[in-house]
Amino acid sequence: MKIGLTTLLPAVCLTLTSLAQADPFAAADISAGKKLLETNCIACHASSFGGDGSAIYTREDHIVKTAKGLIQQIRNCNTNLGLQWFDTDELNVAAYLNKNYYHLQ
Ligand code: HEC
Repeated sequence: MKIGLTTLLPAVCLTLTSLAQADPFAAADISAGKKLLETNCIACHASSFGGDGSAIYTREDHIVKTAKGLIQQIRNCNTNLGLQWFDTDELNVAAYLNKNYYHLQ
């Protein structure tokens, strides 16, 4: 069978579309992020929002709206709490939160 441009083009476009919508934190370690969050962050959120505290991410007027905003918020908390996380730690937590709650692209 002869494969022409018309055959290939849709496949190329589909690939580009899925790349464009890729997880912004694809390279991060989600399970490491989960651990960091559980150790350092959740107790306080849970004391204000009840349950496992995750309602803070999904409440109607939640603060985080973009992938960049998510990193910013995590960085603020990290700084305020004096945790001295590395950039990688922030990315891992962002990846975990994004996968489970925010679903930002
Ligand atoms: C001492 C309590 C406390 C601790 C500890 C804490 N947070 Fe928060 N966090 C809050 C409060 C309160 C808010 C809501 C702020 C607001 O509504 O203005 C918040 C908001 C957030 C949000 C935004 C939720 C939204 O509205 O979209 C994220 C993300 C977040 N925290 C992540 C973290 C991370 C990551 C850590 C651990 C490094 C952490 N927090 C530790 C109290 C805390």
